[in-house]
Amino acid sequence: MTTDANMVAVALPTRRERRLPTRSGKSYFIRTFGCQMNEHDSERIAGLLEADGMNAVASIDEADLVVLNTCAIRENADNRLYGNLGHLKADKDARPELQIAVGGCLAQKDRTIVRDRAPWVDVVFGTHNIDRLVSLLDQADEWGPVTEILDESSSVPDLPAKRDDPHRAWVTIMIGCNNSCTFCIVPSLRGAEMSRRPSDVVSEVRRLVADGVVEVTLLGQNVNSYGRDLDLGGRKPLFADLLRQVGAVEGLERIFYTSPHPKDFNRDVAEAMAETEAVCEHLHLPLQSGSDRVLAAMHRGYNAERFLGKVEMAREVLPDLALTTDIIVGFPGESEDEFQATLDVVAASQFDSAFTFIYSPRPGTAAAGMVDDFIDPDVVRERYLRLTGLQDEISFDKNKATVGQTLRLLSGGPSRKDDAVTSGRSRTNKTVNVAGSVAAGQLFDAEVTIAHPHHLTGRLV
Ligand code: 5AD
Ligand code: SF4
Repeated sequence: MTTDANMVAVALPTRRERRLPTRSGKSYFIRTFGCQMNEHDSERIAGLLEADGMNAVASIDEADLVVLNTCAIRENADNRLYGNLGHLKADKDARPELQIAVGGCLAQKDRTIVRDRAPWVDVVFGTHNIDRLVSLLDQADEWGPVTEILDESSSVPDLPAKRDDPHRAWVTIMIGCNNSCTFCIVPSLRGAEMSRRPSDVVSEVRRLVADGVVEVTLLGQNVNSYGRDLDLGGRKPLFADLLRQVGAVEGLERIFYTSPHPKDFNRDVAEAMAETEAVCEHLHLPLQSGSDRVLAAMHRGYNAERFLGKVEMAREVLPDLALTTDIIVGFPGESEDEFQATLDVVAASQFDSAFTFIYSPRPGTAAAGMVDDFIDPDVVRERYLRLTGLQDEISFDKNKATVGQTLRLLSGGPSRKDDAVTSGRSRTNKTVNVAGSVAAGQLFDAEVTIAHPHHLTGRLV
């Protein structure tokens, strides 16, 4: 646990323990940065605050409490947090009773720095103690600002989530990551892998379905390692088993999951996907680089050939599979030829879409020490544009190939731009806009009529 001059001893009695009034009737606003894991953590933060009697509002101006749930994966996230905190100072000056809490990965990473740089923050909490937020707010109310960062989680938290979408839900199956990709700060912030028991995951999915959910996304930093840390009477549950068990929950229509690691993605999982009706034809397989030297320097545990072998195997087992990926451009020392190797693997893999990132050195990671090999930012930007140009063409071609197909869609209700249009999502995770009204949460069929670079248009059939 971090100690700092302003930190209040955890043992102080809270308002609740002394039966003083809580935050009932007060309002909160949460701003979330980063990945789906963080989005889901924010739902749980909302769940905790609502259980304490608070209600959500749409803007900081109306809020009694502002929570920033931060991300640290790339450097621009740092700058955005401190920019946001700068704006919040003006709010706090105008309304001293406003409470500000900062949690998530960047809080975990920066620990006491957050309050050194922004002393007007009331509570700094980390990735391992979300469940403590209400108590920490109580402490801050009474005794002044508090920072509490734990080094690890004692268990995977099972907290009530307040979901914005009544039909789709995230389900955490594991936390942490035991890999050591040299660019990645996640293992140092989210700790060692810890899986939830399959029975706990399945019970949560059953509860969600009873509540109206038809689609779940199973979340883990590295889902292929699921279960390795568990011992169920001498047996370790595998991710493939979990997919089958979740797939057997009656009333559940769709399962997505993210993310597998290419080095561990195997035929068993692909077959479990194929055999389990609810598991959708979508796989997010992060490539990171197509160069064998760069992949080795990243400690990814596979080379280009093995990656392409996994892609081939997955498409053989799941012919309708849509494939997405993550790619980093400008890893230290990346030569023009090595970047070309990435373009080659991208062309060969024919991803449906890719999340592309410019390498960002993260403190404490091995790659951040390779300073002599950092690449000229102009060169990286030019490569980045070439990569996104190529992938955009492939994505558009993939979309064009769906024209004339009938796709099963899950309605998300009216599209953001036009009330007369329903926005649906396919089992391949593509957005299809369809004229007409289909209630959110309903499954329906549509024929694709027009392909756009990043979405599709269809008509009801
Ligand atoms: N710089 C750039 N991209 C990164 N990612 C992770 N760490 C970094 C970094 N330091 C990307 C990887 C990962 C995705 C979630 O974020 O591609 O798969
Ligand atoms: Fe980071 Fe690699 Fe773990 Fe993914 S698998 S969270 S990239 S260390």
